[in-house]
Amino acid sequence: MDEQKFIEDKLEEIKVTIGSEKAISALSGGVDSSACTVLAHKAIGPNLKVIFIDDGLMREKEPEDVREIFADLGITVDIINAQDEFFHALKGKFDPEEKRKAFRDTFYTVFGREVLQNEARFLVQGTIAADIIETKGGVKTQHNILEQIGIDPEKGFGFKVIEPLKELFKPQVRKVAEALSLPESIYQRMPFPGPGLATRVVGEVTPERISLVRKATQIVEEEIESLKPFQAFAVLLSDKGTGVEEGKRKFGEIVIVRSVESKDAMTAEPTNVPWEILTNLCRRITNEIPDVTRVAYEITGKPPATIEYV
Ligand code: XMP
Repeated sequence: MDEQKFIEDKLEEIKVTIGSEKAISALSGGVDSSACTVLAHKAIGPNLKVIFIDDGLMREKEPEDVREIFADLGITVDIINAQDEFFHALKGKFDPEEKRKAFRDTFYTVFGREVLQNEARFLVQGTIAADIIETKGGVKTQHNILEQIGIDPEKGFGFKVIEPLKELFKPQVRKVAEALSLPESIYQRMPFPGPGLATRVVGEVTPERISLVRKATQIVEEEIESLKPFQAFAVLLSDKGTGVEEGKRKFGEIVIVRSVESKDAMTAEPTNVPWEILTNLCRRITNEIPDVTRVAYEITGKPPATIEYV
């Protein structure tokens, strides 16, 4: 693929489509939405407003980091706190697809409101080919796919959705992001799902359970970073496991550590993590998060498993 040609073609396409109207870019800080945001910013400049929805399901310090990285690129990011709305929508939901749909509906409700409040006519989002294939193929409901349920955002919310990267897979998006001069910390970034840490909490998503998985995820990322896996993270199960603390029984949380190698996330293999790193991970997670009594390393590929648990 010729990245420069792709960029030139997309810039032209975005300019023609949006014209002199206003647009909102849905930035999450991942490589897809970052590349998309820079493209749209180059195409329409000040007519683009960049919004980061803080859904409470992000990794440690994510909103602040994203704002800083984009400030260095000369792009202002508005952070909208919608944590309560997302937690409310997820409350009492245990089924994975129900949780995904609740996330998706809240995502479009919040963005729809922002688009209308800003008198914009377009929402620019970083959907890529794998998101569409996995949703249409019936694997899971990705947060950014509306067609599957027949919602036409123009009729439903009064705006159009633009997806400049929808024909590309992850390796191509990384190349486009690099060609757009995004920093390496973005174009080499591990994928992080739209519904965030909610995909890593089995069972009900609550602020407390998200906080636990956030801490564990940070430890996993720090300890496994040197191996440069495609994706590595922690998962919180809904079952508990008996443990022992100061000679007494303790019924605690179970955390799964997952690390995979993949090209495009359509298939994946578990990372061959050295034993020393695994034992260190277990020690850190159980010491730094006292509620956890057990840590396990996942060895399933995709298929038969998917990468995320939810
Ligand atoms: P699965 O779990 O389906 O994940 O094997 C494949 C890749 O997609 C990411 N993922 C998502 N990304 N919205 C996204 O933007 C979503 O709803 C979503 N669900 C999964 C996942 O992290 C992995 O890289």
